[in-house]
Amino acid sequence: MTTSSELIGVIERRSAHNYHPLPVVISEAQGAWVTDVDGRRFLDCLSGYSSLNFGHGNEKIVEAAQRQLARLTLTSRAFYHDQFAEFCAGLGDLTGKDMILPMNTGAEAVETAIKVARKWGYEVKGVEPEQATIIVMEDNFHGRTTTIVSFSTDPDARGGFGPYTPGFKIVKYGSVEAVREAIDANTVAVLVEPIQGEAGVLVPPDGYLTQLRELCTAENILMIADEIQSGLGRTGRTFACEHENVVPDMYVLGKALGGGVVPVSAVAANADVLGVIKPGQHGSTFGGNPLACAVGNAVIEILRTGEFQERAARLGEVLHARLRELIGDGVVTVRGRGLWAGVDIDPSLATGRQVSEALMARGVLAKDTHGSTIRLAPPIVISEEDLLWAVDQLADAIKSFR
Ligand SMILES: Cc1ncc(COP(=O)(O)O)c(C=O)c1O
Repeated sequence: MTTSSELIGVIERRSAHNYHPLPVVISEAQGAWVTDVDGRRFLDCLSGYSSLNFGHGNEKIVEAAQRQLARLTLTSRAFYHDQFAEFCAGLGDLTGKDMILPMNTGAEAVETAIKVARKWGYEVKGVEPEQATIIVMEDNFHGRTTTIVSFSTDPDARGGFGPYTPGFKIVKYGSVEAVREAIDANTVAVLVEPIQGEAGVLVPPDGYLTQLRELCTAENILMIADEIQSGLGRTGRTFACEHENVVPDMYVLGKALGGGVVPVSAVAANADVLGVIKPGQHGSTFGGNPLACAVGNAVIEILRTGEFQERAARLGEVLHARLRELIGDGVVTVRGRGLWAGVDIDPSLATGRQVSEALMARGVLAKDTHGSTIRLAPPIVISEEDLLWAVDQLADAIKSFR
């Protein structure tokens, strides 16, 4: 039998060190629980960064994938296939948008949104050629491509990867005034995470999204909501923008759209926006493939019932109420919405990494972000009992550093 430590040894020698994983080698999973190669069980409180909202091995999603695997997996977009109509119509209905452009990873969908916004700027808004700018937020996380890291404010994500793509203005997250001041005749879009996940589950001030929406409308600028991590049930609504009844011009979706099975991402917008893309101008060999669409269709079907959104809202209340009790007890602040929380640990006690390791020793998998923040985002299928148990383990892990 090969043990965790033997496998980790090989991985450390033979894979690039672009991540710093916790020392656990997972080999099986079901629902909210995973099992490692040594037979230990852990409660997954990360969900593949919100990709596994509907749980590991979700029956409906796995069945859809298996059925499709045996029938047809790839045609490329050179031809139509029989899963595509349902995917575009279903996701269009879910977002309330006319059109869908499918891709694979989140970063590709963000790149798509950037290209669409620039083209819309030139062809519809009438911005001078090569002058389009997009306003983005400090501490954003939209992926890892060279263009996307060009407007990152995280030195690790950006440093050493220049020359950088021009055409972005970075403003303070949560400040509508800062956006207003940055707008000029060349501004084509504002790209925003309704809640900043990687930054530590930062929820903007009440009214921010509403005012941003109003400003974008008034200035003829596209509002692009990156709902890759915040969307599809996580916050207790289908989209985090719904908490303020805001409808962006473009939704950027990914992660949970692939049900934790395959990478599926997409941009959703109305025809006056997405219609600017013509044959040959954008695409991907795998984007919108039959397997991805079949899985996406199962996800859309699940979301249509509202069951997961309601569950995330209800369990989110339980999670946040219990986490708030820890404030002052090694926890400085708790933020978040629905089944999604950023927990700031008192930095004089331990780093986020140390707390994650202590949590792992207690059977809970969660990951630190930005120094002393622990992010909790369990699969929405988690039971209330397991959720409370996870918070108890967090309290105990923090206590161990006192
Ligand atoms: C808000 C947001 N946008 C984009 C991405 C990039 O997605 P991917 O890793 O699939 O490229 C992420 C990933 O964490 C994300 O959280």
